[in-house]
Amino acid sequence: TTQRRHASRQRFAAEFSQCLFDFVVQLLPTQEELAVKEDVRKLLERLIRTIEPDSRLLSFGSTANGFSLKNSDMDLCCLIDSEDRLSATDMVTMLGDLLERETKFHVKPLPHARIPIVKLSLDQSPGLPLGIACDIGFENRLALENTRLLMCYAMIDPTRVRAMVLFLKVWAKRRKINSPYKGTLSSYGYVLLVLYFLIHVKNPPVLPNLQQIPPLRPISPEETNLNGHDIWFFDDIQLIRQRWHSSNTQNVAELLIDFFKYYSKDFPYQTGVASIKSGQLMKASKGWQSDLDSPRYNDYRERNRFCIEDPFETDFNVSRCVTKDGLYTIRGEFMRASRILASRPERAIIALAQLCE
Ligand code: GTP
Ligand code: MG
Repeated sequence: TTQRRHASRQRFAAEFSQCLFDFVVQLLPTQEELAVKEDVRKLLERLIRTIEPDSRLLSFGSTANGFSLKNSDMDLCCLIDSEDRLSATDMVTMLGDLLERETKFHVKPLPHARIPIVKLSLDQSPGLPLGIACDIGFENRLALENTRLLMCYAMIDPTRVRAMVLFLKVWAKRRKINSPYKGTLSSYGYVLLVLYFLIHVKNPPVLPNLQQIPPLRPISPEETNLNGHDIWFFDDIQLIRQRWHSSNTQNVAELLIDFFKYYSKDFPYQTGVASIKSGQLMKASKGWQSDLDSPRYNDYRERNRFCIEDPFETDFNVSRCVTKDGLYTIRGEFMRASRILASRPERAIIALAQLCE
């Protein structure tokens, strides 16, 4: 019976793996959508240059890291290469006015937000059946770097890493646990959970730790310092792909089953911090236990229920928005997914449908 159970498990995983790939492929943005988005970026860049001639508008987040789904929003960051540039607040106000005058976008400038941004949206049209949503921020160089880090991880093992991340993003959206504003986790947070699992939990690991591979030539700390944060990581992906081969041969379904199992019952939510840079850390050693009087936040919601360390801003908890209820819901969803997969329904497609119900 043990042998039979093993065979049945393998059959299910092989079938489920194939289902996952077929499912994820349909969710990718079309070439047309990508082209429209690039046109929008260029148009906006041209307009911004009428305010700041030395500026560049770069894309970050999912449109730039290889983890984008159909109709995902566009995250844009404006960099200004001159010494005496306007403040982000002024830029947001001026750009907001300009876009309102010159374009058909719905425009919402937020000059006084913690991170000042202009929010834009465009209604649906024939080339854009679902419209477009876009945020423009300023000088957010750390976000550009963490986007590049995520993209490098996606490129090391494109099949397994991308399929897992894309599936998890859709799953989290369908299960309604992807809203930092409502106490659950951002997409960025889920991506970090997947990477943490593939780098530090899986044994043998599926991914190397790019932030701990030494550089090929000596690099001074100043070169890799951005606003006081160490942004070094090994980014020669060609070389990594030649020299680093994971001895983990699990397929994407097996990895996903283990992922849900791990975050259902093994991750130490009470005391642990998931850090892709340093592995598992303790909340206590980072001073992240209970921070009701932390000066960084001015409301009284608990910020450190769930702890995911940002890869570069290591004093920043990416899941700070997750509330007690939010964490309860997220863990409940990990358990539900784990239960569905452990029950191995007759057909893998049924498991997939149930998971994303
Ligand atoms: P979708 O928009 O759902 O497709 O996902 P996304 O990959 O674009 O993720 P999200 O919108 O959550 O975040 C976009 C980018 O903003 C990320 O890739 C990060 O670069 C940055 N970002 C988001 N949240 C945080 C955060 O809490 N801390 C930091 N440092 N950067 C963040
Ligand atoms: Mg985004």
